[in-house]
Amino acid sequence: MGKLFGVIGDPIAHSMSPVMHNDAFCDLHLDHHHYFPFHITNDQLEDAVKGMNALGIEGFNVTIPHKVKILPLLDDIDPLAKAIGAVNTVVRENDNFVGYNTDGLGFIRSLKEEWKKSLVNEKVLIIGAGGASKAIYFSLIHDGVQSVDICNRTIERARQLIDGCPYPSQSNILTMGEAEEMLGDYSLIIQTTSIGMSPHVMDTPISLKNIKPNTHIVDIIYNPFETALLKEAKQRGATTSNGLGMFIYQGAIAFEKWTGITPNIERMKKIVMNHLGGSTPC
Ligand code: ATR
Repeated sequence: MGKLFGVIGDPIAHSMSPVMHNDAFCDLHLDHHHYFPFHITNDQLEDAVKGMNALGIEGFNVTIPHKVKILPLLDDIDPLAKAIGAVNTVVRENDNFVGYNTDGLGFIRSLKEEWKKSLVNEKVLIIGAGGASKAIYFSLIHDGVQSVDICNRTIERARQLIDGCPYPSQSNILTMGEAEEMLGDYSLIIQTTSIGMSPHVMDTPISLKNIKPNTHIVDIIYNPFETALLKEAKQRGATTSNGLGMFIYQGAIAFEKWTGITPNIERMKKIVMNHLGGSTPC
């Protein structure tokens, strides 16, 4: 029998989730599974969730600006998503809509695949204290990573983020200037702000002059594939990852929750890269 899935957001036309999930359905011969983009504005959100429930939609992704506001509209929330205070994946379970957050988990899976290190004893710095930073920070702490510090332009926001974490953590808060001076202390640096995103591709949030050469730097941006920060990191001998892996894995984990099947990650990456590069998906 056919099953319907989708993504809700505003704007939504740019979303690569439909092409990625529909291709995975096709790859797995789930011929009657379909994934649609739904343009839902703030004032339509409540009706949209009711409508999706009534239509029997099996699951959907949630993107900007609904990740936080959707929580009270769902029947149940997974504990990690509740702690983060944001949902990006909804699954129909026993006729209830249950909210999950696969962003941070997707980040960790992708990082483990690309960096191939156990993260637990690494010294980590996160740049930024917005929604993406929160999902990553909570998921790292939840995963047992011992040392994760945060630097942010607005110090108070970093403090609120750390104070709001329900899992035991010992984290320091740094100004951007302090972080810049101390970058050599960190083996993993995660850039979560929008600085460097297209069209402002020359911008960087921080100078990397003090990093150790073997540091790993992740920028969660994937448009462009290589931000100015990652270019500088490479020049200084660091290894790098962009945000494509996080995007793919957050989708792959959602796909697993909906279907019970792990999709072909390499194929997902290829289809998204083709799409970003402007070619037509199969
Ligand atoms: P998201 O949910 O995508 O993480 P967000 O909640 O708006 O987005 O957070 C954006 C992050 O980028 C924040 O850490 C923000 O810093 P502030 O908390 O000080 O606002 C950071 N950011 C965005 N533009 C910035 C800029 N021009 N300089 C420094 N930090 C910036």
